[in-house]
Amino acid sequence: MSYCSGNEKINTRFYLSVLVLALLIFLLNNGIFGQDLIVGHNKEAVKHRGPESKESMIGERMFYGLVKLENGRLNCEGCHSLATTPKVNWNPSAYDLSVWMEGKTTSDLKKAFDSPSSDLMETSHKNAKLNDDESKKIMAYLVKVKENGQVFHKDFPIKLLLFFIFGLLMALALVDLIFTKKIKYKVVHVLVLIIGLAFHMQMAMVEATNLGRTKDYAPDQPIKFSHKVHAGDNKIDCKYCHTGVFDSKSAGIPSANLCINCHNVVRNGRNSGKYEITKIHDAIDTKKPIEWIRVHKLPDHVYFNHAQHVVAGKVECATCHGKVETMDIMAQYSDLSMGWCVNCHRQTKVNFEGNDYYKSYVKLHDDLKSGKIKQVTVEQVGGLDCMKCHY
Ligand code: HEC
Ligand code: HEC
Ligand code: HEC
Ligand code: HEC
Ligand code: HEC
Ligand code: HEC
Repeated sequence: MSYCSGNEKINTRFYLSVLVLALLIFLLNNGIFGQDLIVGHNKEAVKHRGPESKESMIGERMFYGLVKLENGRLNCEGCHSLATTPKVNWNPSAYDLSVWMEGKTTSDLKKAFDSPSSDLMETSHKNAKLNDDESKKIMAYLVKVKENGQVFHKDFPIKLLLFFIFGLLMALALVDLIFTKKIKYKVVHVLVLIIGLAFHMQMAMVEATNLGRTKDYAPDQPIKFSHKVHAGDNKIDCKYCHTGVFDSKSAGIPSANLCINCHNVVRNGRNSGKYEITKIHDAIDTKKPIEWIRVHKLPDHVYFNHAQHVVAGKVECATCHGKVETMDIMAQYSDLSMGWCVNCHRQTKVNFEGNDYYKSYVKLHDDLKSGKIKQVTVEQVGGLDCMKCHY
């Protein structure tokens, strides 16, 4: 046996290091170390171009800060990113700029730098100036950006990769355990198999229960509306905007007219400058409603009523929607599954005292008073009847 002892060590080390590497990737990708380090928000830009003129090619390099401008170096793409980002990017994207630029001329771009229209723009552009030639080239590039359309960031398929790595490791461990027997310590095989299986099972379970569900769904909205800025920093009451929550089925999304109440005065945002807030004024001027993308959506066969929960049930928004006042981008917090509704109805006690809504439950009232029952849950007032939630 002695002739292969060197090999054994190497093999053991090899297995362990691949295992550690895989675990590390897993942890990093799950943001355990505070950052989504491996999320693929890449410079897809460079791949992303059709046949183009020399002018727009130089413009692209200027935009990426690779070619020095006459008046210093500025990496436009660092702020005006080509692809969407997984977290909020308060700056207009490159695509936004290409839309802004429509119907404008080279001198408009030059002017935007010569006389910046907001403090934020002035500090961001660091008093840089564009000359005619530079403006022309950057404009030519932005035309290309417009033609190519918005680029969406893609997450690196890290899970799939890990799935295969663990699969491979398990296969190797099995082969070695049964046939090759290179590794002396069986504990290594067992460890690899247990961790690999656990990972595969966890992944299968997550994928299966997520079918058709959209927990954590957080689409980019047409305006970078931040609940953190409004409900958090500026402490605006949820009900000021979601006027329906207390008296109707739907909470409702406010129209641009409501935004204007404040944004006639507040024309500049601390993070976004005037760019995003100008969109509200454009919506009013053109009479085109802002097309918010719906985040929460129950299937059509389910009946859910906000007033019933918020008023009669006294359930807090945060119980179902999470810490909305910390969200820059609205995200779905609960999975909205039937199990989620039903579990809460089983567990939540209803408070009969002073709640007119429950006047009709005379028998439950009496039983409660006479001490026959100790508490009443939503289940007992019909919260598990199929017909209450299904049409
Ligand atoms: C200044 C107005 C305003 C305030 C205040 C406000 N919201 Fe909103 N809310 C909006 C707008 C506009 C949207 C649509 C855009 C979006 O999804 O970010 C929205 C979306 C939502 C959604 C998702 C709707 C969907 O599409 O499914 C939820 C949930 C929500 N708000 C909850 C709250 C809660 C809870 C509070 C209080 C902590 C609150 N909001 C305060 C304006 C407001
Ligand atoms: C009750 C007043 C009020 C209402 C209503 C309101 N906002 Fe605001 N909004 C503010 C305040 C205050 C700020 C913060 C300005 C700052 O950065 O100092 C702000 C900032 C913003 C910003 C810039 C954020 C940043 O940090 O750059 C955007 C975009 C915005 N609001 C969009 C909207 C939209 C869209 C609506 C309607 C759905 C709306 N607001 C309704 C008060 C309001
Ligand atoms: C440090 C970040 C940063 C860099 C770098 C930067 N910008 Fe900007 N830019 C901004 C912000 C923020 C705004 C929006 C400010 C506002 O609307 O108040 C903006 C606005 C603009 C606008 C819109 C002007 C308008 O009137 O609405 C144009 C065009 C623009 N940038 C072009 C460029 C170009 C070209 C470069 C590179 C030469 C560049 N920017 C570099 C942050 C940046
Ligand atoms: C018991 C859980 C629950 C509570 C409490 C709750 N919501 Fe909701 N909310 C939901 C569900 C479920 C949906 C999806 C409804 C649908 O698709 O029909 C939703 C949808 C929404 C929407 C978007 C669709 C609409 O109804 O207009 C907004 C906005 C919203 N909630 C705001 C609020 C606010 C603000 C509060 C607190 C005052 C609140 N919600 C309290 C469960 C809840
Ligand atoms: C966080 C707890 C919670 C969640 C989650 C929840 N509910 Fe409720 N629900 C309550 C409470 C508390 C009441 C009691 C208020 C009342 O009697 O109307 C209630 C009452 C109801 C009622 C009225 C029952 C009756 O007998 O009148 C319906 C219908 C209902 N919920 C549907 C739903 C649906 C559909 C969902 C999931 C999409 C859901 N609920 C999720 C807490 C919850
Ligand atoms: C508290 C509210 C509630 C009650 C009570 C309830 N459901 Fe549901 N049900 C839901 C919700 C919410 C969904 C949607 C879940 C999803 O999309 O994953 C659902 C989905 C379903 C589906 C799946 C339909 C589909 O499209 O896949 C069936 C079947 C169903 N319910 C049957 C029942 C039956 C039978 C009962 C009575 C024993 C019942 N439900 C009671 C809330 C409820």
